[in-house]
Amino acid sequence: MSKQTDAAKEGVQQLDAAAAKVRLAELAKALGAANAAYYQDDAPDLSDAEYDALKRENAALEARFPDLKRPDSPTEQVGAAPSAGFSKITHSQRMLSLSNAFDASDVQDFVGGIRRYLGLGDNAPLPFTAEPKIDGLSLSLRYENGTLVHAATRGDGTTGENVTSNARTISDIPTTLSGAPEILEVRGEVYMSHADFAALNARQEDAGDKTFANPRNAAAGSLRQLDPAITKSRPLRFFAYAWGEVSVPLAETQTDALARLEALGFQINDRTKTCDSGEEMLAHYARIEEERADLGYDIDGVVYKVDDLSYQRRLGMRSTTPRWAIAHKFPAELAWTSLEGIDIQVGRTGALSPVARLKPVTVGGVVVSNATLHNEDYIAGRDANGAPIRNGKDIRIGDTVQIYRAGDVIPKVADVDLSKRPATAEPYAFPTACPQCESQAIREEGDAVRRCTGGLICPAQAVEKLKHFVSRAAFDIEGLGAKQVEAFHTDGWIKEPADIFTLRERFGQGLQQLKNREGWGEKSAENLFQAIEEKREIALARLIFALGIRHVGEVAAADLARHYTSWDALAETVDKAAPAATAHRAAEEAIVAERAKAADEGRRANLSAARDAAWADTQPEAKAAWDDLIGIDGIGATVAVSLVTTFQQATERASIDRLVAMLTPTAPETRATDSPVAGMTVVFTGSLEKMTRAEAKARAESLGAKVSGSVSAKTDLLVAGPGAGSKATKAAELGIETIDEDGWLALVGDG
Ligand code: IVH
Repeated sequence: MSKQTDAAKEGVQQLDAAAAKVRLAELAKALGAANAAYYQDDAPDLSDAEYDALKRENAALEARFPDLKRPDSPTEQVGAAPSAGFSKITHSQRMLSLSNAFDASDVQDFVGGIRRYLGLGDNAPLPFTAEPKIDGLSLSLRYENGTLVHAATRGDGTTGENVTSNARTISDIPTTLSGAPEILEVRGEVYMSHADFAALNARQEDAGDKTFANPRNAAAGSLRQLDPAITKSRPLRFFAYAWGEVSVPLAETQTDALARLEALGFQINDRTKTCDSGEEMLAHYARIEEERADLGYDIDGVVYKVDDLSYQRRLGMRSTTPRWAIAHKFPAELAWTSLEGIDIQVGRTGALSPVARLKPVTVGGVVVSNATLHNEDYIAGRDANGAPIRNGKDIRIGDTVQIYRAGDVIPKVADVDLSKRPATAEPYAFPTACPQCESQAIREEGDAVRRCTGGLICPAQAVEKLKHFVSRAAFDIEGLGAKQVEAFHTDGWIKEPADIFTLRERFGQGLQQLKNREGWGEKSAENLFQAIEEKREIALARLIFALGIRHVGEVAAADLARHYTSWDALAETVDKAAPAATAHRAAEEAIVAERAKAADEGRRANLSAARDAAWADTQPEAKAAWDDLIGIDGIGATVAVSLVTTFQQATERASIDRLVAMLTPTAPETRATDSPVAGMTVVFTGSLEKMTRAEAKARAESLGAKVSGSVSAKTDLLVAGPGAGSKATKAAELGIETIDEDGWLALVGDG
């Protein structure tokens, strides 16, 4: 133990509880101020040694008096060890979203509807606030007795992620308030300015790290960092615009409440205006739209809120949006330019995507030189069913085309001006071979997309799979972004995901080679190997998602992980289900054939007979595994077929097995074990009146229950609303407990 620690310990030994409490408060304040000076003002006012001594004294006091540990304890602050994941916080009041208005008449309808709801005549005063809609992510800050006790993201509106340590690093967020109500939840938007976004991306690029697509993604990625030290290094800002639980009302109007928040030390958007009429609201909207490009941060509309808080209370909310507010969105941006070429990109599932190469054009302040052309039908001027789009006008190289950009979505080619078509322009012939590996590119029945059949031999598919594998929602390996993985692939070091985990041993003596490569030094190579090692233990859901199986996105991967909890259980079921997937496909074909036959013969189709015949020879074990898969809420036959197809494909499977053998997938945490529904398998059926199905599912899962889409012997509880049909009958047959919506709400404590 160091001398300094000894000294701190000695001091601590001499204090009694009352004195310790006072000292802890002093330390929190001193360390808070030192942090602010260091991290926010870039102007440290303590030496490192002084700072460390205070931190040690604080830690020693907390160790001796654990009950006196403060909610704003400096040990919980910046630089704390990264946690294994975010804990969850249940919002004391739901975090709502907003319904949208797209034009003036929507806004007039909104105002008129409120007048009717409140029984106000046309001339009764009804002021609104109008303020920019910040394009960031919402955050709820809970203060108790003037101290920030926690910060939570919106999550599903009911439960969010605990990002307290990260929020503390944002200079716009005060950690203490004076003169605030005993309980105050401040809500607002975390965002990043354009300038900070550009500088951050430049830094990321230099360091070989992933760059962000837009300021909102950068803000979200920065706030949702497990290591607060990273958040601290990212320039985040915060505008307050709403509140949750408050022990004493802030004011009587929205306007005054915002002024109160500002007086407490929060940033309030300076374009907020109180308006007396719909006309004034629309005029303010027009003004903000004009100023949009010069604000220095992204906004995507204007939010109108009823100013009178007693009216707000009376208006209340629908399931997820308040009746007293609406977001008036900015229209999409349009521009005309010429189409210089069409590039074909090959995605990770082999999809051939046509991308328009454009004469660069500014669309809503952003220079656009590429835009999506979706697929070959879109270029030809028809939709997936062969019906004409754009009045059947096709798109040709050389054409003058209209570009459409809305928010941060990829710009698309929306229209074509035939009057400007060059006489030489030819209809576009979509390639039938992969431009990367020359394998045949085929279009399956019912698929809008043509796909390369090269599989892993197609370098484009292999690279895209690898990029997906290391992406943020998948393995997210620090120092191994899209660019690096592509370079390693080109050099032959990484051909498939498993190769990432043998990189270090294969480099062995050849480490010099990596170090000699541009951009890699001893330290960065070592960091990379370390980052890779850390990802050998990986959440099962991330692993499933990372494989890049068609139709298995983040949500489906999480559903599968929650249901099977281990890789082996998942793989076993998918393998067992293989014959059933074949039967399922045969049944689909048989149904189509029977329909056609019945139509020919002028009789009613007997679809269930056709289906049963196709399933007749399927082993019960395969059928049971199939039913188990598609019984998972959110997993349907499409996902199940895709899983089976991938697992049955020999080269693909060998590649997956090589990978999994090197990893330790971890089961999803089971939460809230004290809820009576924790660990239960619950099925919702019939119509729910007080919550949406998605809400019900999210709530049940947040309490540690599994939600299934079908009733089986494994079901523990059926929640049946009006109109419940076969599921209720089956539950009754199986003797499964069935309750109604109110029963459910009472059971989970929401009644
Ligand atoms: S008020 C109860 N005001 O927009 C009302 N929201 O699309 C809560 N947002 O989830 C929201 N700027 O994240 C409000 N000035 C503003 C806003 C704003 C951005 C976000 C917020 C909300 C989302 C809804």
